[in-house]
Amino acid sequence: MKAVGLYENLPIDDPKSLVDLDIEQPKNPTGHDLLIAIKAISVNPLDTKVRKGMYSLVEKADMPTILGWDAAGEIIALGSECTLFRKGDAVYYAGSISRPGTNCEFHLVDERIVGRKPNSLSFEEAAAMPLTSVTAWESLYDRLCICVNTTRRFSPQRGSFSDSSSNKQILSSILIIGGAGGVGSVAVQLAKNVLDSPVNYSTTSRLNVIATASRNESREWCKRMGADYVVNYREDLKSQIKNLIGSEYVDYILCLNNTDGYFEAMKQLVAPQGRICSTVETTAPVDLGGILRQKSATFVWELMFTRSLFQTHDVIAQHHILNTVADLVDSGKIRTTLTDLMSPINAENLRKAHKKLESGSTIGKIVVSDF
Ligand SMILES: NC(=O)c1ccc[n+]([C@@H]2O[C@H](COP(=O)([O-])OP(=O)(O)OC[C@H]3O[C@@H](n4cnc5c(N)ncnc54)[C@H](OP(=O)(O)O)[C@@H]3O)[C@@H](O)[C@H]2O)c1
Repeated sequence: MKAVGLYENLPIDDPKSLVDLDIEQPKNPTGHDLLIAIKAISVNPLDTKVRKGMYSLVEKADMPTILGWDAAGEIIALGSECTLFRKGDAVYYAGSISRPGTNCEFHLVDERIVGRKPNSLSFEEAAAMPLTSVTAWESLYDRLCICVNTTRRFSPQRGSFSDSSSNKQILSSILIIGGAGGVGSVAVQLAKNVLDSPVNYSTTSRLNVIATASRNESREWCKRMGADYVVNYREDLKSQIKNLIGSEYVDYILCLNNTDGYFEAMKQLVAPQGRICSTVETTAPVDLGGILRQKSATFVWELMFTRSLFQTHDVIAQHHILNTVADLVDSGKIRTTLTDLMSPINAENLRKAHKKLESGSTIGKIVVSDF
């Protein structure tokens, strides 16, 4: 089968950094595995990091590394323990970092981390979504534990719980650093259209969504995704936020860029008892003492591969997340983040896609379709 991969960790301008391959097609699936005929894939910063050798994957010696952790396709065979899908179903998924990636014609994946493709999206539009949707969902719900639909809140002043009949509005705020990128585009939509939605909140709780963007087009994109406010990360964040929401603190921060560079600012910006989640690896130890301790603030990591890597008891949560996101897309609450489509899936197009991603200025997602 056709695939795109690498034998050496090289800069993207080197033609050997990603090469066209003819490799053996995976055998019939066993256990919980599905065999997928890939129709479209998407490219993530992770692909560029693995290509450069930042992470070492477990590969057999002399075998090429196959990148790609985002796909949409059709099920052509199922293992004997599969119960969630049928042959011919259209699906979308990110897969596992501990297995070969999706940049190949046929791919094996555990059904418990696969979702049904949204009916209203093409394979290309669907391929843009899985990795970023799971990351954004886990960050907001599982790590930041945002809950704006609380109808009862404990009031330390009164020493009792308030309920939804109280007419005082509780307004929380989230700062999403990197709002126009792949993850940010889904996180902004989930935060605004799902968490802060009339069907979800009581009359007493709302979520203000503040995204960062540095250019007119990325600012406009964040607004289109639903951000209430957009701040420029090239200028002082604290004064911009204070001018916009009247407070120098935000309750939640989702960091989707340079955790090292933003750590000091996040320490200052997070509200007392607030929460910070980052998806981006650090190069230096982070200081959880000082002002973070004074504020009783939480810092938490999100890695969307944790569940599949450690086979946690709730690994099937990613199947449910992807199905819920498919429902949200089909009901018009969330839109695809596809902005750039290339075809076919080959080394030349994937090198172009990596180069664009490495510029750090892409908006939404790059998708490559058909072999
Ligand atoms: N831990 C996980 O599970 C996980 C999952 C997914 C992604 N990630 C990581 O999360 C990061 C974001 O991923 P992504 O796919 O959203 O990236 P992306 O699509 O490449 O992000 C591009 C965006 O980054 C913004 N940006 C560039 N420089 C910035 C800066 N200094 N400060 C703030 N924003 C900046 C740009 O905004 P402007 O155009 O406005 O400048 C651009 O729109 C990557 O490092 C990725 O590896 C981790």
